[in-house]
Amino acid sequence: MKTLYLKAEDENSIAVAADILKKGGLVAIPTETVYGLAADALNPEAVKNIFIAKGRPQDNPLIVHVSSLEEIPPLVDEVDPRLYKLAEKFWPGPLTIILKKSSLIPDEVSAGLDTVAIRMPSHPIANKIIKESGVPLAAPSANASGKPSPTRASHVLEDIDGKIDAIVDGGSCSVGVESTVITLATEIPTLLRPGGVTPEELSEVLGEIEISHAVFEKLNEGEKVQSPGMKYKHYAPKAQVTIVKGSFENYCKFVKAQKEETCAVCFEGEGKNFDKYIEYGSADNSLAQAQHIFDALREVDAMGCKTAFVRCPVTTGVGLAVYNRLLRSAAFREINLDINIPVYGLTGHTGAGKSTIGEMLEKANLKVIDTDSLARKAVESRDVIDRLCKAFGDDIIKDGVLERKALARKAFKDEESTKLLNSITHPEITRLTIEAIHLAENEGKKGAVIDAPVLFESPLTAVCNKIICVVAPEEVRLQRIMERDGISREDALIRMGAQKSKEYYVSKSDFVIENNNLNETEKIISEFLKEEML
Ligand code: TXA
Ligand code: MG
Repeated sequence: MKTLYLKAEDENSIAVAADILKKGGLVAIPTETVYGLAADALNPEAVKNIFIAKGRPQDNPLIVHVSSLEEIPPLVDEVDPRLYKLAEKFWPGPLTIILKKSSLIPDEVSAGLDTVAIRMPSHPIANKIIKESGVPLAAPSANASGKPSPTRASHVLEDIDGKIDAIVDGGSCSVGVESTVITLATEIPTLLRPGGVTPEELSEVLGEIEISHAVFEKLNEGEKVQSPGMKYKHYAPKAQVTIVKGSFENYCKFVKAQKEETCAVCFEGEGKNFDKYIEYGSADNSLAQAQHIFDALREVDAMGCKTAFVRCPVTTGVGLAVYNRLLRSAAFREINLDINIPVYGLTGHTGAGKSTIGEMLEKANLKVIDTDSLARKAVESRDVIDRLCKAFGDDIIKDGVLERKALARKAFKDEESTKLLNSITHPEITRLTIEAIHLAENEGKKGAVIDAPVLFESPLTAVCNKIICVVAPEEVRLQRIMERDGISREDALIRMGAQKSKEYYVSKSDFVIENNNLNETEKIISEFLKEEML
């Protein structure tokens, strides 16, 4: 189907859009929050087509949009007086209110629930289109399911051009994130999605409100949800997003240490420090951040970046909505770079004795973090598994479990594939490592040691205060590997040959330990600890 493009300011665009809607068609319309994909809410066939065009899961209900309060009583079971209190203060505007529904609402709209979500948008074009079509309009955000919501007509066309009857281009959306969703169908009103209307403002009208934990946290496996939209992957660009907390200085150092081409998604005025960046509003302006965040997430893909690191916004007021969208776009991956204990990188050739050194440092109350084991844990993350399947094919999964051998066969077959594997797993390994450092901090450890054979190929160097490398003569290493792994001299030589030269390690390290003799090494370590005041 060809999607008819209408400009909001053209004289008959509203009449044309309304006519299509009355006849059961789909029209993308601008609202003050994001673009909505509208259909007659009382026409089940039209509503079904919304789900098809978006690729939306059937069990995710839609918001019904009205243009006046008079339209509401027939849609709900009982008019809750709190609805009028909220309407008086926040409508028309970015607030969606959930109430028990009447039998007029088709099951397709409520996805089988006994409630209905209602909103009165303030955008003049949306308002006119609802009035002119003469019916309430069911409208989810007009993106392809899972993608960032559209805040410009071009975003809508990017996702669903040719799948809908028409689009009305009304320019950029002023709020930029979807409406706040609050349910009055629970004992205590509960905020299900933060948005343009803040929890603080809602409390002023309603008194006590609850904030669903799903606003901040990943749902538990199999948990019953209050709002089906909570359980789906959301707002996600193709690139892998990580939220970064901490000082700008630490952020800079960390982003610059990335090995893959990455995008710094930062605040106004910060971008000049990076090769590739997108600014999404100034640090102290949540409204501006809300306006730009979805566009910024789409831009990351347009720039062709595989990963993006986003500066964490403040999380009060409208900032909570920005943070919530980012959390979901990042599959809840966030790191805090403000670390209060010294962090040491520990690296070196296989057989040089890294683990022996690690044990000595543990005895001195430092926490040794084994990145090999974290790399194995990283591929248990749902987001990582999904991405690996996309990259290497679904046959790396058997009965829902990752087949490590099948993945290894594909990922290590050539350099290109290995790079792809690393680009997918590194953000999660990084997150797990930094999480372990904070855990060590909380446990009262004096410092953390990142034990990583390929430390220099990882962005984790950016969180290390110093890098220690362990070296030993070739013959000593050879004997150790043969003994440790029970392999022949030839095989041990092959393994050693695949590693970088001693000079490479030494030139990039702050402290070199010649590990030839246990007594000597113990002395070196205790000197080192003294110097570091540990
Ligand atoms: O700002 C907005 O709200 C935009 C514009 C177009 O109005 N619309 C929007 O719709 O964001 P959508 O479908 O993308 O998000 C609606 C959210 C979903 O998470 C859905 O699960 C939830 O509201 N929802 C809808 N009806 C519900 C109900 N009866 N109970 C619980 N959650 C409901
Ligand atoms: Mg949506």
